[in-house]
Amino acid sequence: MPWIDVASRATLAERRWMEVAAGRKAVLLFDIAGSVHATSAICPHHAAFLSQGSFEADMVDCPRHQGRFHIPTGALLRGPACPSLAVYPTKIEDGRVLVEI
Ligand code: FES
Repeated sequence: MPWIDVASRATLAERRWMEVAAGRKAVLLFDIAGSVHATSAICPHHAAFLSQGSFEADMVDCPRHQGRFHIPTGALLRGPACPSLAVYPTKIEDGRVLVEI
């Protein structure tokens, strides 16, 4: 799997979470207490854009049916039965965030 440069680490620190493109995938980046995480930006239930939902602690809530996912693992914590949210490995190099897709 290739590592893709998707964002400035400093920008993510400022915004706390942001949607980026990693190749053809829409990815959400999160800064959780200084740790960088990446998930799919698309809800696995009915494909809502999670960037239009909310992010608190280590959870992201879907705006459509209020599904709640644990960001580090992608596990469904609340809401309609659906697959887990896809998560992707991340690393930091030279002030950039890279995601393995
Ligand atoms: S589309 Fe996200 S919970 Fe239904």
